[in-house]
Amino acid sequence: MTDIRLSRRRLLQTSAALGLAGSLPWGTGTASASSPDLKKFVQPLPIPSVREPDGRRKGAAYYEIPLREFEQQVHPDLPPTTFWGFDGTVPGPIIKARRNERIKLRFDNSELPSDHLFEVDERVGGTSPEDYDDYDGPVPEVRTVVHQHGLNVEWQSDGQAAAWTSPDGVTGPRFEKHVHDLPNRQSRMTATYHDHALGISRLNNYAGLSGFYIIESPREKRLNLPSGEYDVPLLLQDKTFEADGSLHYPDEFVANFAGDTAFVNGAVWPYMEVEPRRYRFRLVNQSNGRTFDLALASDYGDGHEDHEADVPLLYQFAPDQGFLEDIVSIGPGSDLDSLVLAPFERAEVVVDFAGHAGETFTVTNSAEFPFTGGRDVDGGHGGHDSDTESDTHLGEIMQFRVTEPGYEVTDDSAHPRTLELPTQPGPNPRAAKETRHMTLGMRMQNGLRTHVLNGKTFDAEGVDAKPQLGTTEVWELENNSMHTHPIHLHLVTFRVIGRGPGGMAAPHPNERGPKDVVRVNPGETVRIAVQFGDFTGTYPWHCHILEHEDQSMMRPFEVVAGNADGRNRDEGSEVGGGDGTRGEPSTGV
Ligand code: C2O
Ligand code: CU
Ligand code: CU
Repeated sequence: MTDIRLSRRRLLQTSAALGLAGSLPWGTGTASASSPDLKKFVQPLPIPSVREPDGRRKGAAYYEIPLREFEQQVHPDLPPTTFWGFDGTVPGPIIKARRNERIKLRFDNSELPSDHLFEVDERVGGTSPEDYDDYDGPVPEVRTVVHQHGLNVEWQSDGQAAAWTSPDGVTGPRFEKHVHDLPNRQSRMTATYHDHALGISRLNNYAGLSGFYIIESPREKRLNLPSGEYDVPLLLQDKTFEADGSLHYPDEFVANFAGDTAFVNGAVWPYMEVEPRRYRFRLVNQSNGRTFDLALASDYGDGHEDHEADVPLLYQFAPDQGFLEDIVSIGPGSDLDSLVLAPFERAEVVVDFAGHAGETFTVTNSAEFPFTGGRDVDGGHGGHDSDTESDTHLGEIMQFRVTEPGYEVTDDSAHPRTLELPTQPGPNPRAAKETRHMTLGMRMQNGLRTHVLNGKTFDAEGVDAKPQLGTTEVWELENNSMHTHPIHLHLVTFRVIGRGPGGMAAPHPNERGPKDVVRVNPGETVRIAVQFGDFTGTYPWHCHILEHEDQSMMRPFEVVAGNADGRNRDEGSEVGGGDGTRGEPSTGV
């Protein structure tokens, strides 16, 4: 442990003793640290590689991915940083599956150390045995469980919060199996696999435990989108570094944490050289808590950025999963000015750099932190409701430099305006069997700013809903708190049918398609239509701000087998005890 850490901790202890920590208005924690000055756009964007299977098992491709502690240099002027990552890289390798092709995936954390990279605040739920009523074994400081976000899988393969394992083999109460069985019977998507361990998921993800999970489909291929080196995944994160290169994360729990440095595909403020042609970008916000509001700006190299100049538009064709109903153009004078992505939301876009040879574009971010649905108007020094001395604004993310090749660039990918997107009808809200009103709130508990769903913490008894397998429900998500919450349901995709006060305003144009994370702003009710398939069993719904999820904005719902009048009765399931059975095969694109 370095002196810096010790003195910071002493400072925290002192301020806690004086009652200062508890008086921070929103528990906002960039804490006192800020990264050393690091020059922007001096290193090329790394592209994660696609992981090869380690063999086959029962007719499926089998992957065995170790979790390791390792060092990686993320900026030329920063000493190497210690991370935890899949296969020893940050981000992890890309897991690429084909639609309807089953894979089997095992994550092995036995090589991780037994001490965490960060301080574990044991006031947070799920960090000690007393927090569990169905378990009285040890709760090791280091424990992980990997969730494949967006996948429609049996609960035993879902990587749920209490299904953690420790490096020396202790298993949490929900643990069932090491090898996850992933049928990929769903629409194409770009998503991530990431840690989900109860009470410390924010620490494990921040340490580096995330990577892309991609499902490809034949219909997607036929669209003739830019491919190969012109198909670029972008994992967007924010981090804070100490001068010695180590990651900074607050020792004491904070409900809102933002890093002061952009971190894309494992590099600090990278640039990418692009040809004057079309590219496909797969954008994933994998920050703990920061929402991005992204746009392209012309960069004239004199510190002056211009959003109104002739910048290429982003043509968004996919939301979290599948495809949008219609292409949405993003940029000056278009359908949307900018692209808002809350943690774990995704967007896939085509950008045409033709006609821009020799120009430079910066990806800018104008979202306030903590996010409430708006822009950062005052430049973000400290944010509008934060009293930390740190600058929570992160205005620039990365840069694109368009090359001037001395030859004719050929581009036979489809023009985004001509794309005919293969959409599928979403669940029909008029066929909903049930409308459930759910609330998002905040209260103080244990001295911690605690976010809750339906007024309940994660450990409260019972489940919030028991939807019947195959049926559609409307959930009304009413936000009574001060901040935006990106709400995620495991197992399913849903359609946003209304937002705004009372849920009566139209969804944003780029929300018209299959989603699995939806932003709910303060004072707003977001209505979603969800069809519950293909499996019965208990799954969580939660806020995807990891600090909120850890304390304690996550609740279970249980999909139960249909009764005699259930529309899509599942043959093989037993009522109540049918965990893990399969319903109708899913349709998808
Ligand atoms: Cu991205 Cu519960 O997960
Ligand atoms: Cu998920
Ligand atoms: Cu939240």
